[in-house]
Amino acid sequence: MTKGNATELLVGLDIGTSKVVCLIGQRRSAESDIEIIGMGQYPSKGLKKGVVVNIEATVQAVERAVEQAELMAGCQVHSVFTSVAGSHIKGVNSHGIVAIRESEVTQPDIDRVMDAAQAVAIPADRKVLHVLPQEFLVDEQEGIRDPLGMSGVRLEAKVHLVTCAANAGLNIEKCVRQCGLDVAHIILDQIASGCAILTEDEKELGVCLLDIGGGTTDIAVFAGGAVRHTTVIPIAGDQVTNDLAMALRTPTECAEEIKIHSGCALKTMTVADELVEVPGVGDRPAKTLLRQALAEVIGPRFEELFYLVLSELKRKGFEDLLAAGIALTGGSAKMEGVVELAEEVFKMPVRLCYPQAVTGPLEVIRNPVYATAVGLLLYGQEKRADFRSDRERINHFRSMLQRVQSWVKGRL
Ligand SMILES: Nc1ncnc2c1ncn2[C@@H]1O[C@H](COP(=O)(O)OP(=O)(O)OP(=O)(O)O)[C@@H](O)[C@H]1O
Ligand SMILES: [Mg+2]
Repeated sequence: MTKGNATELLVGLDIGTSKVVCLIGQRRSAESDIEIIGMGQYPSKGLKKGVVVNIEATVQAVERAVEQAELMAGCQVHSVFTSVAGSHIKGVNSHGIVAIRESEVTQPDIDRVMDAAQAVAIPADRKVLHVLPQEFLVDEQEGIRDPLGMSGVRLEAKVHLVTCAANAGLNIEKCVRQCGLDVAHIILDQIASGCAILTEDEKELGVCLLDIGGGTTDIAVFAGGAVRHTTVIPIAGDQVTNDLAMALRTPTECAEEIKIHSGCALKTMTVADELVEVPGVGDRPAKTLLRQALAEVIGPRFEELFYLVLSELKRKGFEDLLAAGIALTGGSAKMEGVVELAEEVFKMPVRLCYPQAVTGPLEVIRNPVYATAVGLLLYGQEKRADFRSDRERINHFRSMLQRVQSWVKGRL
């Protein structure tokens, strides 16, 4: 990417089922929040339920979104942080154990234990996306976040391992590369969204993030400051639109418009005699119907989705661990009545969440639609910092080596 100080620019590319969004973020100083200086968006026609099904259409949408963002920011994008979703995603908890080489834990010990934790049988058609540390144990001591420098003989790591179908990841990469861009990292949708919308307190207390988009509902459970569970349900806003199109016998585009402008997920929140106009199919005349009738179609779909999520939480034993309740985001979470309906089903506090910790256009930072894209910027910023500290470590090691070499030379 070219413009001013190249290292301080980050690009997030959310390739969703409904839209492709490209955000360009800039940090003026190490302490300041990321400022969004470029934004581009284009309707996505090449994905179904979070998975690329048409490379050409996806490439076109990515190109358009990136061009718009470049134009706004006045720079050229070379490398992006992008995301992946779909029901092929699998999250499992795993753990690894190694002997501590010297008497205290060093970075190579941590690297080895993280490698050991991902040494599980992964089929050849799957790829590891994330190895997210949950906690470390040194000998009998549990609950350690950073074991570096601790004394002991045995180091254990508990991690959450996320894998995806290798081809799904490759297709995303292929689309991005065909636009002449590099992929800096592929990040799971809900991990990115979590970076943008959750507070440290929520992640500590226990929270279930639900990103309800167009094609998928992405779930992530956080507790004790770490990711405990991730999964994807292939039901989201597109199904609501399809249900409406069938029930109202109207084209999908009209159903989508009616849903966005007049939809409501809870019948009790609609006014008794409120009317909505529905365009007819072909040359049939338009008709009017009660808004309550819309809620009767929309409500059960969201209810079904929430009961699926609830049974997943019960199955995994998280239901009673979510002191901070449910954090809703994604475009479909904007529907009137969704928060209230979710509270009825989950019997927990439910919060509609917007991207945090960035500055920029209000349409982005006050909008759950952009949670993943903003999260990609924040995740990218963290990754860059890790990369920088790795580089510093290597440089530190090199300079030590050089000092030792010159000392040895001086003695000869
Ligand atoms: N105001 C609104 N009320 C209700 N639904 C809305 C509203 N705005 C957007 N939506 C719905 O949100 C969905 C798109 O959400 P989003 O942009 O988060 O999806 P996406 O990220 O492209 O898809 P996915 O994450 O599933 O791959 C669409 O189904 C759209 O109809
Ligand atoms: Mg999305």
